[in-house]
Amino acid sequence: MAAGSLLGTVRTFGYNSATMTAADLRRKYQEFFQSKGHAVISGKSLIPENDPTVLFNTAGMQPLVPYLLGEKHPLGTRLVDVQKCVRTGDIEEVGDPSHLTFFEMLGNWSLGDYFKKEAISWSFEFLTSKSWLGIPKEKLWVTVFAGEPGIPRDEESAEIWKGLGIPANRISYLPRKDNWWGPAGQTGPCGPDSEMFYDTGRVCPKGEGCEGPACNCRKWMEIWNDVFMQYNKDAEGKYNLLPKPNVDTGMGVERTSTVLQGKKSVYETELFTPIIAAVEKASGYVYGTEEAKDTYVRVICDHVKTACFILGDDLGVKPSNLGQGYVLRRLIRRAVRNGRKLGITGTFLKIPAAAAIEIYRSIYDEIVGRAAMIFEELTHEEERFLKTLEHGEKEWEKMLPGLQKNPQKVVSGRTAFKLYDTYGFPIEITTDLAAEAGMTVDKAGFDEAFVKHQELSKAGADKTFKGGLADHSEMTTALHTATHLMHKALQMVLGDHARQKGSNITPERLRFDFSHEGKMTPEQIAEVEKIVNEQIGKAMPVTMTMMGIQDAKALGAMALFGEKYEDTVKVYKIGDFSTEVCGGPHVENTKVLGKFKIQKEEASSAGVRRIRAVLEL
Ligand code: ALA
Repeated sequence: MAAGSLLGTVRTFGYNSATMTAADLRRKYQEFFQSKGHAVISGKSLIPENDPTVLFNTAGMQPLVPYLLGEKHPLGTRLVDVQKCVRTGDIEEVGDPSHLTFFEMLGNWSLGDYFKKEAISWSFEFLTSKSWLGIPKEKLWVTVFAGEPGIPRDEESAEIWKGLGIPANRISYLPRKDNWWGPAGQTGPCGPDSEMFYDTGRVCPKGEGCEGPACNCRKWMEIWNDVFMQYNKDAEGKYNLLPKPNVDTGMGVERTSTVLQGKKSVYETELFTPIIAAVEKASGYVYGTEEAKDTYVRVICDHVKTACFILGDDLGVKPSNLGQGYVLRRLIRRAVRNGRKLGITGTFLKIPAAAAIEIYRSIYDEIVGRAAMIFEELTHEEERFLKTLEHGEKEWEKMLPGLQKNPQKVVSGRTAFKLYDTYGFPIEITTDLAAEAGMTVDKAGFDEAFVKHQELSKAGADKTFKGGLADHSEMTTALHTATHLMHKALQMVLGDHARQKGSNITPERLRFDFSHEGKMTPEQIAEVEKIVNEQIGKAMPVTMTMMGIQDAKALGAMALFGEKYEDTVKVYKIGDFSTEVCGGPHVENTKVLGKFKIQKEEASSAGVRRIRAVLEL
């Protein structure tokens, strides 16, 4: 790889603690918080269980929502973890020095235990102490919540920072859009946050006029966020103080490693350099030669890594036109398109994918163990997309003579949208082909058609995404308990092999995937309904006990195949009927469940069936 990419030419970029690898950082973080009484919990799947409000876990707090809402965690009130996250909201910024679609988030958690003083003091100690990260404190800038009507300015956090030696001129007070974390437009725990930024030494284009971390320039790298979940937003939009507030924090492994290693961008750390080398090998392009092409390389590296983690997840997903599968498809196709811009014509993604998987060999078994499947799926999707492009190119050629009659030599937005919508032809490719034919594309017209289309699908999606576990509605909890009853009933009717493969609950219905070959007969469906309704009728108590995972297994508790568990787990029992390892929450007695009804039974994937069921209360 050529030295000195064009992301910046500042010499004094970092302070270069050259020996600190990402592995050291993960280990130190856990050790530090263990020394402060935190229990280490394992990170969870990338795909949220029982939370229909998000497609992927986008932050460490997501798998912990039930505990942030008051469920007791088996390991206590101070936890520390590393969570895999996928965020696609910033996808257009990927390729810059710090935005990624996949990243690892280090988090320490107070479940109604410590609050601002400890959280901030420990963040400061971990960042600056020579025994831990040893970042010079002059390099740190912080932000706190500026306040708004009804919610006070967070002077308390600012005072704590000042007490630790961060001068007032390096503390910015910012509004909700920067310094607030919580469920957008929904109910649930939320609160102001305090973010920590590293001064990279880059010169802001505004020079002396730079507004500090509030400025969107690349001088400031956000590395950690301490969220003070002190409110519960209710259905009227009112913020009620929680009796026992929580702390949710998130430190980015990739960004913090960049800072610690004195690098200019996340792509220069060992979490990316082997993938860049693999793209160089696949394309023949030498990284560092041309700025635009370097960006294509970085986008490929990011997207391929994310695709590996989505495909290889324990609750893995395949490319499709829906939900998570669609995000995966988009990432793969974007990577292919960027590969074409580097001159690659055939399939190539498995080369950078192999490099990405190797980086995580000792950490994420799931992608290492599933490498062969990942390569196969990537190649298959690449081939499919290349065919789409070929097909679209043929259509384009057919259309071209007609299009060229346009005196302005403009391809209309409608035509560009038709190519996109019918043939999956990305606008960038239409624009390239148009340019080759001496034409331009009405991009504004395309955007208009695109937005109209998006609005229509968003209206549909909003219906699906309203509510969910995040608002902790009673219906969701009831459906969760019904899911346990049904799981057991399915095993009684179909056999022991009928095990949970996935679950998704909205306030309207439960959806449950389980292993079974072939369609269930109407008699089997009726029998499962009958068993569940009988158990509901028995008004059975639902009880929870915490125990060691081995004891839970010895007790015959059902546990989700492939899921990672802590050593101590929660076991929910419904009378003597069902025993499952589960995070909860559940109703207290089955008598509140009403009438259980299966609405649909269908194939989900090979050897997996899917049931949709409701409760009529
Ligand atoms: N949940 C917080 C974040 O993701 C820590 O920034």
